[in-house]
Amino acid sequence: MDAYFGDFGGQFVPELLMPPLNELEEAMGRFFGDPAFTGELDGLLSGYAGRPTPLTFCPSLSERLGVELWLKREDLLHTGAHKINNTLGQALLAKAMGKSRLVAETGAGQPGVATAVAAARLGLDAVVYMGAVDVERQSVNVARMRLLGAEVKSVADGTRTLKDAINEALRDWIATQRDTHYCFGTAAGPHPFPTLVRELQSVIGKEIRAQAMEAWGGPPDLVCACVGGGSNAIGAFSAFLPDRGVRLVGVEAAGTGEPGCCNSAPLNLGRPGVLHGQLSMLLQTDDGQILPSHSVSAGLDYPGVGPEHSFLQASGRAEYFMADDSDALGAFRTLSLLEGIIPALESSHALGWVIKNARSLAPGSKVVVNLSGRGDKDLDIAAERTGEGFPPPSGQGGG
Ligand SMILES: Cc1ncc(COP(=O)(O)O)c(C=O)c1O
Repeated sequence: MDAYFGDFGGQFVPELLMPPLNELEEAMGRFFGDPAFTGELDGLLSGYAGRPTPLTFCPSLSERLGVELWLKREDLLHTGAHKINNTLGQALLAKAMGKSRLVAETGAGQPGVATAVAAARLGLDAVVYMGAVDVERQSVNVARMRLLGAEVKSVADGTRTLKDAINEALRDWIATQRDTHYCFGTAAGPHPFPTLVRELQSVIGKEIRAQAMEAWGGPPDLVCACVGGGSNAIGAFSAFLPDRGVRLVGVEAAGTGEPGCCNSAPLNLGRPGVLHGQLSMLLQTDDGQILPSHSVSAGLDYPGVGPEHSFLQASGRAEYFMADDSDALGAFRTLSLLEGIIPALESSHALGWVIKNARSLAPGSKVVVNLSGRGDKDLDIAAERTGEGFPPPSGQGGG
């Protein structure tokens, strides 16, 4: 299995982490080809998580935007986001490897909840590291994880967000690798995690392809997804990578959008560097120190990105743009008002980009936005950020 995507990826880890990474790669080779394993995972995804998720047409928003807008409804999965595709797969793999404990990191709380759920379902212990800032802004998810039996450890180091939680989880894994699997939450980190997480999330793109074929007899013109670490986007893109006619657009968080202000857009505003065991695009100072990231959505608040996205950008196969906090908040309200669907603020970035740029797309284009999660968890933040209960909807569409 190749550890690199073009120039990006690799295993930039202390020697102590090489044994569990090698063990994981070996287990992927062994179990992913085993029909008993894949059958059990498919059964969990359909009978427990709720796959396949629908591809929903948006009539009102389509009319307003002048394109055919479809949503891939990962928000309808158990736990309310795509992360469960990954955690069920990794938890099952951990069990097959004889591990009894999962460690995980979380920003938005979504991967943490999905890990806690998978651990509860499969009878594993779970410890979830979470930056102290995120513990505060995602208190409902913290309560959910504790209810599910996971131990939530608040991390007070550094910027007290996702990157610091990952550092802490990696430290835990070094000490506990014999009985513990690190259930990495996104398609980033040292090899083989970017490949492992892509494989587990690739079900999203495979379903989009089959559902598009059934709905209109061909692939979409454009597939759009938000990019934090990159798992929902690579999951949505992977089935279309060989299909050059399908435009692939990843949307990063521009934060407040003010020049010089913090953002979470390493593909747009960063340069190559090493973080969390991988070489990828990274927000950093001239000296290579990691810059703090910012986004209204905790799940996008990460200064790095998975290496396959850096490669897809460099090779020109996928394009990466930015949406700022107000684009996302506008899309959050617009989708709620026009279609009766409350999107996660993370997913609202992808939708916000489409709403803003629809007029630059060919009229009637078939656009699929991966709705990576539901927005109930974000109601307080949306209300607090706008000071008026709810954000105003996006402008009159397009333009
Ligand atoms: C709903 C939702 N969407 C997107 C993301 C971003 O993660 P990724 O880029 O790995 O899909 C998160 C992260 O927690 C999330 O909770």
